[in-house]
Amino acid sequence: MVRYKTIFENNLKWVRDMKARDVDFFEKLARDQTPDYLYIGCSDSRVPANEIMGLEPGEVFVHRNIANLVNNTDLNVLSVINYAIVHLKVKHIVVCGHYNCGGVKAAMVPKDMGILNPWLRNIRDVYRMHHTELDAIKDEEQRYNRLVELNVLEQATNVIKTANVQKSYRANGYPVVHGWVFDLHTGVLIDLNINFESILRNIQSIYDLTGITSEHTEDGDI
Ligand code: CO
Repeated sequence: MVRYKTIFENNLKWVRDMKARDVDFFEKLARDQTPDYLYIGCSDSRVPANEIMGLEPGEVFVHRNIANLVNNTDLNVLSVINYAIVHLKVKHIVVCGHYNCGGVKAAMVPKDMGILNPWLRNIRDVYRMHHTELDAIKDEEQRYNRLVELNVLEQATNVIKTANVQKSYRANGYPVVHGWVFDLHTGVLIDLNINFESILRNIQSIYDLTGITSEHTEDGDI
C-alpha cells in the first residue's frame, strides 16, 4: 500500500519536476483551460486518461464513471458534455472503454447487485440490443471483449443523441465523437473507427434535436 504521507511527497516532487521543465508551468495552468478533447472513460484505476493519451494537465477534459456510461438522465455526464461543447468548444469527444472492465463483467452475470442494478442495467440493455451477435460468440472471453466494444459504440451513440453535439456539429463542424478501447494486456489504445457522420445521420431520423426539421411538432403535438 502507498503510505498516505507519500502522496504529498510525490506531489512536491511532481511540482519540482514540472517547474524544472517550465518555470512558469503553474502560472500558465492557473490562467485558463483550452482542452480540445473531452474524454469519457471508466473509473477503473488502471486506465488513467492523461497518461494513456500522453497529454499534459490542461489538454483533456475528463469524465469517468463505472463502465464509461452516457446515461440520458445522468445530470453529471450531461453537464460535463454541455460544458465541454458550449464553453470549452472541444473538437473531439472520446468514449473510451477497456477490456477486463469489471462493470461490463458484472452486467454479464445474472445476479442482484443491489444499488448497482440501475447502473448496470444500461450495460444489460446494450447486451439485449446486440444479443444475437453476442450469443453467437461461444468463447466467453471474446464475448466479454465484444460487449466492451459494443458498450463503447452505444455510449458514443448516446453522446451523439444529445442536442449539444447535434447543434454544435451543424453550426461549427465539431465536435466529432470517437469510440476507443484500452487494452490492459498491451497498453495499446484501439480506435474502433466508429463512423460519426453515418451514426449522426441514422439517429437523426428519430433523435434530431437541431430544431431544423421540426415540422412534426409544429401542429401542436407533443
Ligand atoms: Co471498467
